[in-house]
Amino acid sequence: MSLADKDRIFTNLYGFQPWNLKAAQARGDWDNTKKILAKGKDAIIEEIKASGLRGRGGAGFPTGLKWSFMPKESKDGRPSFLVINADESEPGSCKDREIIRHDPHKLIEGALVAGFAMGARAAYIYIRGEYIREAEVLFAAVQEAYDAGLIGKNACKSGYDFDVFVHRGAGAYICGEETAMIESIEGKKGQPRLKPPFPAGAGLYGCPTTVNNVESIAVAPTIMRRGASWFSSFGRENNKGTKLFQISGHVNKPCVVEEAMSISFRELIEKHCDGITGGWDNLLAVIPGGSSVPLVPAAQIMDAPMDFDGLRELGSGLGTAAVIVMDKSTDIVRAISRLSYFYKHESCGQCTPCREGTGWMWRVMERLRTGDADVSEIDMLWDVTKQVEGHTICALGDAAAWPIQGLIRHFRPEIERRIAENVREAAE
Ligand code: NAI
Ligand code: SF4
Repeated sequence: MSLADKDRIFTNLYGFQPWNLKAAQARGDWDNTKKILAKGKDAIIEEIKASGLRGRGGAGFPTGLKWSFMPKESKDGRPSFLVINADESEPGSCKDREIIRHDPHKLIEGALVAGFAMGARAAYIYIRGEYIREAEVLFAAVQEAYDAGLIGKNACKSGYDFDVFVHRGAGAYICGEETAMIESIEGKKGQPRLKPPFPAGAGLYGCPTTVNNVESIAVAPTIMRRGASWFSSFGRENNKGTKLFQISGHVNKPCVVEEAMSISFRELIEKHCDGITGGWDNLLAVIPGGSSVPLVPAAQIMDAPMDFDGLRELGSGLGTAAVIVMDKSTDIVRAISRLSYFYKHESCGQCTPCREGTGWMWRVMERLRTGDADVSEIDMLWDVTKQVEGHTICALGDAAAWPIQGLIRHFRPEIERRIAENVREAAE
């Protein structure tokens, strides 16, 4: 099932209308927000749980459940915080950018609703350093909301005080990892912390904290207005709602689009991208969820449901729903080697398997790319990915290992061909 226009949450995704408060209110944002807050914390959390919303930043953790981990009452007078992850840096991901550019008030209203539900004193929106124009829009939209009494003291005349701070990053991918982000906001070097404790127990300044992705927060007010059952009517069991897909690469019309969860890959591409360059027979492989998930070969993904479970069954994942399409003109070994370089470059260096392993993996990938390797190195590389996967402080180690595993699993003959041709050339 695909999404009808009347069911889109992000009605200004392409910026055809202004982002400002007046235009946002005309689109229905900030409409009687006080009434949503009057339902009470527990009712809001239950509604979000019932909607089936799962985190839109990549990991897919149930959002309402995450909010429910926050303490109901402040302990020792310590405040709680909401941190909103706008450090969108996953190669292929560009959906949060569109929300902030064109619909920032959905995010700010969502921050208030979510912050209220979890009893947070303030929200920190951490926006990636490269999003310069987006940060300007966000700063201005937050100011508009303050000036209109929608946030700040007695937000929306609800009796609840809630501040929103915008914090700009400085260009490190790892600061998108939730605990590295918390360290960075605290003014320290952005390096992930060991979990547990999870941020809900000890987060920003040691206080209870929830970290949520921009999209997860921005959809919350609409879910509260239209109801959990409306949101959960899209998608399928365990994979509910609408979702922003970001489709790049070898399609005729790359785009960011809101669709029903579980739409098939074929329908998504036909409906919104005018098909694959050179036609469907020209499709080689797809990375369906941003660079951190393994690629899926053409034949397997065609009719796959684009959701958490459907893509996991194919040995990949929905991730951020950044769909990177590669046709047969792609040098697939080179493409994955380039990703290996990215992870090597972005490793924070804190733990040995990641710091050393990402460098190893990239160097071997480069040799496989040029064919300047022995066939036995393919298995050795696989072993190295297994030494890194699951043995690091944060998920960057896994993210570096998985694309390579996907390549070896599905394109081993192509790697072997390069090595064989290189050996033959050397012999001639
Ligand atoms: P995770 O699975 O460790 O955690 C997900 C969330 O659930 C976190 O907020 C965590 O605190 C919470 N959580 C998990 N178990 C919990 C428990 N027992 N108690 C309380 N809270 C709990 O995943 P992580 O490391 O946060 O995210 C990895 C994902 O991020 C990857 O799947 C990748 O797709 C995505 N990603 C997104 C990027 C972007 O630009 N949006 C960049 C890089 C990665
Ligand atoms: Fe840093 Fe990599 Fe360890 Fe994550 S896995 S903490 S990025 S060294």
